[in-house]
This record gives sequence, structure tokens and C-alpha cells, in this order.
Amino acid sequence: MTPVRVLAVASEVYPIVKTGGLADVAGALPLALKAHGVEMRTLMPGYPDVMRMLGGAGEIRRWPDYFGGPGRLLAGSHDGLDLFVLDVPHLYARPGNPYVTAEGVDWPDNGLRFAALSRIAADIGHGLVPAFVPDVVHAHDWQAGLAPAYLHYDNRARPGTVMTIHNMAYQGKFAPELIGSIGLPWDSFNVHGLEYFGGISFLKAGLQLADRITTVSPTYAQEIQSDEGGMGLGGLLRQRADVLSGILNGIDTDVWNPQTDPHIAYRFGADDLTFRAANKAVLQQQFSLDSSDEAPLLGVISRLSWQKGLDLLLEAIPTILGDGMQLALLGSGDRDLQDRYQAVARANPGRIGVVIGYDEILAHLIQAGSDALIVPSRFEPCGLTQLYALRYGAVPIVSRVGGLEDTIVDIGEASTSDRAATGFKFAPVTVEALTGTLRKANTAFHNKATWRRLQLSGLATDVSWRNRAGDYAVLYRDLVAARRT
Ligand code: ADP
Ligand code: GLC
Repeated sequence: MTPVRVLAVASEVYPIVKTGGLADVAGALPLALKAHGVEMRTLMPGYPDVMRMLGGAGEIRRWPDYFGGPGRLLAGSHDGLDLFVLDVPHLYARPGNPYVTAEGVDWPDNGLRFAALSRIAADIGHGLVPAFVPDVVHAHDWQAGLAPAYLHYDNRARPGTVMTIHNMAYQGKFAPELIGSIGLPWDSFNVHGLEYFGGISFLKAGLQLADRITTVSPTYAQEIQSDEGGMGLGGLLRQRADVLSGILNGIDTDVWNPQTDPHIAYRFGADDLTFRAANKAVLQQQFSLDSSDEAPLLGVISRLSWQKGLDLLLEAIPTILGDGMQLALLGSGDRDLQDRYQAVARANPGRIGVVIGYDEILAHLIQAGSDALIVPSRFEPCGLTQLYALRYGAVPIVSRVGGLEDTIVDIGEASTSDRAATGFKFAPVTVEALTGTLRKANTAFHNKATWRRLQLSGLATDVSWRNRAGDYAVLYRDLVAARRT
């Protein structure tokens, strides 16, 4: 197996900085790729948490003026991950969320901040670090979307480029004037380059100029080629369909392992699922829910945004209450949704429990203690919480979109498939379909043998990166070979 060197570029990487699934993927994939002969280093911005956790990182280069202030490139490692860190304090030394201010609005200089990240990725691609000259630069989401552009608008020999879409809804759109301050030529401002409906888009640039495009599930790879799913970029993706593929996400089965998880009250495996009841009791306490083993406890762990369909779940609350179920929701995001969920929790003490915030530890407990995990997304590129649920014996109830469609086998589907049922899927994404499926799940829950079968099939499903990482390894090798000929 010829070794391949890949520079991954990501704006968040678990366990250092995380706001969602991108971090989980960026943190787990490099570890899984080692077994496939891929040497991956990941470039990320030097936010305060990164600088704190990578105290021992060594300086490789230093510039008195990098995009308007002093900057350095560091190399170090953390938890088995080999990292390059772009330390540019005037761009990244800001507390809290990497993308938005404390008031929740985008930092006004996000264009500059992530152009700087992409620029250094391209420079590393061109050999800035002689000890690590990548064969492939792999850009994740819009924040890294200009990396293929910097490499493209430069005449030197370059590595292959891959652009991965984790979410079509975030496109990195800015005014064209930005081009003047980020070191790209003005002729990049055209329909074959950065131009997008009169402005520029970092994601569009990456999709237009990368050698290969991937997204995080086969079904989402189809959906984004439609006008609706493509969110403005469907036409471009249809044109580039020959280089577009969907590779399903895996999960880090060491971080998410109910047999060793330090964050849950009682550890368990497939043969001692009865310990889930003890975790359920702790979860009920933490969410101030009535203690009851008989009431099905529905869990949600999610960003609160339109994508996730949690406004539909609010409308299903009467069904949840009427049919004797409980809800434990952990989430943060849209103010309006946060307020509405807190209001239903206040109105229904003991039955609906809501924690607004971001809490990695509580997320593990919800997986270990809830009976079912609900993901009613309007669209979902892959989704990871339903994969964690499979691994923890919480039965997923999901909408039939994107990666949810690809990862869960519906209870009704099993007879026509060679795969055992692992959960419930509903379509279309409406309150009526959701409530109908919640009722169906409630009935199945009270049939102990049926429910146990669903749980055990979930636990037996391979959700690890082991096999899926191999698809990326093949993609990198094919790309390297294609560029040689
Ligand atoms: P997305 O990336 O669209 O948010 P995913 O399902 O791919 O959706 O990944 C979400 C990740 O973020 C999961 O690891 C999930 O456990 C975590 N997560 C989401 N919201 C919260 C929260 N409020 N507290 C803790 N973890 C959360
Ligand atoms: C995005 C998507 C989610 C996916 C994650 C990791 O945030 O919304 O579906 O699982 O990226 O690829």
C-alpha cells in the first residue's frame, strides 16, 4: 500500500473545539485512516482553546503581517491527532463560539478569517513545510472552501484537492470586494470561479475548483443535485456529478462506548441492557422528570435550527403527553425555539424536561438513558446522534432524509431488506407523519420483545469508521493516480 499524505483543513476538531458533527468527523477520521496507509495532518485556526491545549506546539514559520497582523504557523499533536495551527491573534484570539459573537451574530471579518486559513493550507500544499508536503489537500465545508481556489489560481505544481460538504446551508457568502484583500486575482470573480449571484461564496469556489467533491451520505449526494436540496448550487453539482460521491460518516467508537463511557452513570453492553434502566432513572432526575420505567423517555440532542425540524416536535407535544411519553431535550440555537421549549417544560413539569446549552457529558447520558432518540430533520447530510443512539441502545426515530435514510432501517422495511430493523423512519417531514410514528414507536415500546430486538439490532450495527475510512483512502489514491497520468 503506497502511503498517501493528506492535509485536512477544518474549522473545528473534536476534542479541541466543537460546535457540531464536523468536529466529530475531523477528529475521528485521521485516526481511522492510519490503518489505511493515509498520513493525515489537520490544519485548524488557533482559537484560545486550541492555543491552551497545544501548549507544546512548535513554531514553523512567523510573519510580521499575515492578513493584517502578526501570525505564526505551529505544529503539534493532541490525543493522537497531528495538527498544524494557524496562530493569528487578531483573527482568532476571541472567546466562545468560533463563528459568532456573544450576541450570536457572525463575526464581521469571517471572510478574512477563513480566507487566511485556506491560504495557509494552499501554501502547505505548495511545500511550505518540507517535512510534510501533501499529495492531497482535503477541505471541509465553506471555511476551507478557498483552499482549492488558492491552489487553482497559482501556476505551480499542486497537490490534488477534495472538497467535502457537511452542510449545504452554510455557503460562506461575502461581498466581492473581499477578493482585493485576500490575495486572489480579480479574474477569479467569474462564474467559473468565486462568483455567486453577484457576490462570492467560499463553498461555491471549493465545489467549482476542487478535483473531487464528497458529501457525508449517498442519499444527501443525490438530494443536493436537486434545485431544492442544492440551495442554489444544485446546477453546479449536477454539472460536476462525475466527481461527486457520498461517503457515509462513521463515529469514534472509543469516545462513544457504553461499556467504558466515563460520562454515564452505569456502564453496559449488549448482554446487560438492563443497566439502561438505571441510567434512565438518573436522566429523569437530571431533567426533573417523574421517575417511571414504564413511560417511554424520548431524547433529543441537537442544534436548535430550522434544519433540525424541532419546531415540528413542539407541535407533537400534545401527542407525547396524551400517550404517556416523556421528553428530555438538550439543545441550543434559535432564541425563539429555546424560549418555546422552555415554556413547554414549565407548563408540563415532570413530563417535559429541557436543558438549553451545550453539554457534552449530558449528551452521553441522554444516549445511555433515553428509550428512543428523535431526529426529525428537514434535511440531514449525515447526522451523528442517531449513530451514537444505535451504539447505546436508544432506538432512533428519524425523518427519511439524507444520512438518516441511509443509516436507519425502519421497522416496516426489514421484511423487504436483508438488514434487521433498527428504528422508525417517517416521511414526509410533517407533524402528522411525526405524530403517527411516535404513536407507532410507543406501541412497540410496550412490546418488550419487539423493543429489545430493535435495540440489539442497533447495537450490532457497525457504525465505526473502520470500513468507511477506507472509501476516503481509495478516493485519495485514485485522485493521486489520476493526476499523475
Ligand atoms: P450537526 O453537525 O448538524 O449539528 P450531527 O448530528 O452531525 O449534527 O452532530 C451533532 C454533534 O453535536 C453530535 O456529536 C451531538 O452529540 C452534538 N451536540 C449537538 N447539540 C449538542 C448540545 N446541545 N450539547 C452537547 N452536544 C451536542
Ligand atoms: C453537518 C451536518 C450533519 C453531519 C455533520 C458531520 O453539520 O448537518 O448532518 O453529520 O455535518 O458530517
